[in-house]
Amino acid sequence: MRYPTRTYPPFSTVQSVPHFGYCDEVSMDQLVHARAALKSAAEARGLKFSFLPFILKATSLALSEFPSLNAHVASDVSEVVHKGSHNIGVAMDTPRGLIVPNIKAVQERSLLDIAAELNRLQTLASAGKLEQADLADGTFTLSNIGAIGGTYASPVLSVPQVAIGALGKISRVPRFVGKTDTVVASNIMTVSWAADHRVVDGATMARFSNAWKGFLESPVSMLAHLR
Ligand code: COA
Repeated sequence: MRYPTRTYPPFSTVQSVPHFGYCDEVSMDQLVHARAALKSAAEARGLKFSFLPFILKATSLALSEFPSLNAHVASDVSEVVHKGSHNIGVAMDTPRGLIVPNIKAVQERSLLDIAAELNRLQTLASAGKLEQADLADGTFTLSNIGAIGGTYASPVLSVPQVAIGALGKISRVPRFVGKTDTVVASNIMTVSWAADHRVVDGATMARFSNAWKGFLESPVSMLAHLR
């Protein structure tokens, strides 16, 4: 069966999957600076450079540590296939509604390359011109609902994928510095993960989220994985 406008299967199928949610907050302070430092270089290449290229790269790096989350599961749970390529879907709000193209092989792409592909997919999605190839073979999904607003969300699994994350709006809020009583203004983004509890346990999701959060809170740590 094909879903020409959405990659989501019928909700009855999704709702039959026992899933759990896991939420955390991420300090985006260092990422705000990293993005500002690279934005003009991207714009010189004609690219819009949002936070998503970093977030997609961090997701891929964390998936490398937790390959069981980059997987497809058979509807009867008879088989779980760990996918080699990180084809990360990005939920897009378009004049025609929600659509979820995916960026293929994020693990092999640079930040600029990810930005270029994101720009291409966003342009095609807005024009209603995405190809089936852009929609097929996703292995994991992110929904940046925070681009519109909101703090938390409950993302719906894109079965047969086993996990999805929704990103909240980056907000400037007060936070303590470490274990001190000093309070500073911090750029905080929440993440709300959902995972198929038949094949993913909460501890795995929490460890994955910790790894992902570590990359975003210290973007320089991603450099260690440059090839
Ligand atoms: N918090 C704060 N600001 C954010 C943000 C967030 N979570 N996400 C994006 N922004 C900012 C961007 O940095 C950009 O700012 P700038 O103009 O200073 O550069 C601005 O908002 C616009 O970003 P956008 O064009 O939306 O780019 P993006 O790469 O961050 O996101 C899409 C692209 C396609 C994912 C996004 O536009 C979208 O459609 N989101 C909605 C997804 C959705 O509907 N999910 C629900 C599924 S049920």
